[in-house]
Formats: sequence, structure tokens, C-alpha cells
Amino acid sequence: MYAAPRPFSPVQPPLRQRRGVSHTSVLYHEALDWLAVRPGGVYVDATLGGAGHTRGILERGGRVIAFDQDPEAIARAQALNLAGLTLVQANFRELVPELKKRGFPQVEGILADLGVSSFHFDDARRGFSYQHEGPLDMRMGQDGLTAGEVVNTYSEDEIAEILYRYGEEPRSRRIARFIVQNRPIQTTTQLAEVIRRATGYREAGHPARKTFQALRIYVNDELGALEALLRGAEAVLKPGGRLVVISFHSLEDRLVKHFLRESTLLRPLTKKPIIPSESEQRANPRARSAKLRAAERIDGGMV
Ligand SMILES: C[S@@+](CC[C@H](N)C(=O)[O-])C[C@H]1O[C@@H](n2cnc3c(N)ncnc32)[C@H](O)[C@@H]1O
Repeated sequence: MYAAPRPFSPVQPPLRQRRGVSHTSVLYHEALDWLAVRPGGVYVDATLGGAGHTRGILERGGRVIAFDQDPEAIARAQALNLAGLTLVQANFRELVPELKKRGFPQVEGILADLGVSSFHFDDARRGFSYQHEGPLDMRMGQDGLTAGEVVNTYSEDEIAEILYRYGEEPRSRRIARFIVQNRPIQTTTQLAEVIRRATGYREAGHPARKTFQALRIYVNDELGALEALLRGAEAVLKPGGRLVVISFHSLEDRLVKHFLRESTLLRPLTKKPIIPSESEQRANPRARSAKLRAAERIDGGMV
């Protein structure tokens, strides 16, 4: 089973939290094992979310500095009142200055479990889901452009480029044309319906999936933030410190793979990405596209 039996510990995340009512942590044990948590060590959870991985690090005796740009994720974790946890409401691209501000110039490990959490998808008001009617927002934080502003003000060429580049959507031009012809588009389900008409109802999965992914990545500058996080990891990891990244689509995984291959400061530990077991994939559909890569900070003297 995905959640292997473990001895009871007071800070063990409740099964309910790990397995699905709120957000089920993907590759939970694998992430903690690759992070090689040492009691007393200081770890960054760059993506707090439902705090599943954070609680796992605390359970293994680590201290955690957890980032999330979403104030709702921070507020939920605050209410848990966990000992050894410092919360930072910021984009993880600010890793280095935020750690310095708090007196942690170096850390033993960094975990990033990318993308959005189930809280985001389940809350129609956030606009991430093409299945629930909501405003076209899609911002994980509170700043910046909304998906609605992109859809309703960008040119057809600009929209097509975003869908192609960040959604790898082969019908980007046709979808962009339909979007522009049907503006203004106010809600998630209206946009999904326009995409459905553009693509002619042919797909096995939902035809809006790639467009929604593309808009989300663009609105949150997810690839820019990830690259900044990887550079930050080079700067703040202690020699021997570990970086663990769980990604959910090929653009992220490719960026991590190439960054680690070219880095002179981080040594990849996983030749091929670690993927969830079949039973985890069955139990948690969100885990199906997950890929974990781990790396270690090379000793400064050897660089
Ligand atoms: C997949 S969830 C993490 C789930 C978490 N590992 C758990 O076990 O519950 C990703 C979280 O990271 C946050 N996030 C994504 N990109 C971020 C960024 N650039 N900076 C800060 N937080 C980010 C999202 O708001 C979301 O809450």
C-alpha cells in the first residue's frame, strides 16, 4: 500500500491528511528518504501545501522552514501549531533572501513538491479547475495577472504561443482563435466549453486539460520560479545537503534534469526519475505524472 505501516508517532500526519480528504502527499516516503532527514537538521519545504511532507520531516526530527505563496496554505498550517516549524508566506524564488532574513544562511536539505495542491483544485473560487464553475483566476499567490486577463486581453498569437509553449497543445492556434472569437470569457466552465468546441469533442481525456495547464504555468511563471529555486538551492545547501524535487509535467522535469546535469555545485543522485508505485498511482490519480529527482550539494572544496 502507498502509506506503509509505520510506528505511531505524535507528529505522524493523520492518515486522513495523507490519503485524500484534503491533499494527499505524493511520493511521501520516497521524498523523505531521498532528503535523508537528520534529527536537528534544518530543512526547507519550498511547497508547504497541506503540510504533509513538512509533518514527515518534523516527525523524523528535522526543523522545517516552509514556504508557500498561498496565504490560505500558510493559515491552515499556522492552525496546526507544529513545534519546529517556521512559516514563510513568499514565492520560493525568494529562497535565499528569506532564509538570510531569518538567520539561516545554509540548510541541510530542500524539498519542492511542485504545482498546485488539491485545495486549489477543489476550491472553485480559485479558478484552477475546468470542472467547477469559477472565475478565471489561477493565481497561487495574490499578485500578478489572472488567467482571465490573459484570455480576454492578449492577442490571438500571444495566446497560441502560451498554449503551445506551456501546454504543449498541438491545436494551440485553433483554440486561440476560438478564444478570441468568443470573448469576453468570464468563467472556467465557459472557457472549457469554448475549448471543447474548438477541438471538436474528439479527446479521450478532457480537451481543456492542456490549455488550463498552460495558463496556470504562465500566470504563476512556474518555470521561472523553479529555475530561481534551483539556483537558490546551489547557494544555500550545505555540502552534502540534499535537494529533492517532485515535478508533475515534462516541462518541469526537463528543466530540473538539465539544470542538475549542468550544475557544477549539485550532483544528481537519481539517474532516472523515481515514480510512484502502481498502488500509489491507483490510490491517487494526481500521482500518475509525478517524477522525483534528487541531488546533493558538492563539497565546496571539491568544486
Ligand atoms: C503540490 S502542493 C504541496 C503539497 C505538500 N507537499 C503536501 O504534502 O501537502 C504545492 C504547494 O506549493 C505552493 N507553490 C507552488 N509554487 C510555489 C512557489 N513558486 N512559491 C511558493 N509556493 C508555491 C502551492 O501554493 C501549493 O500550496
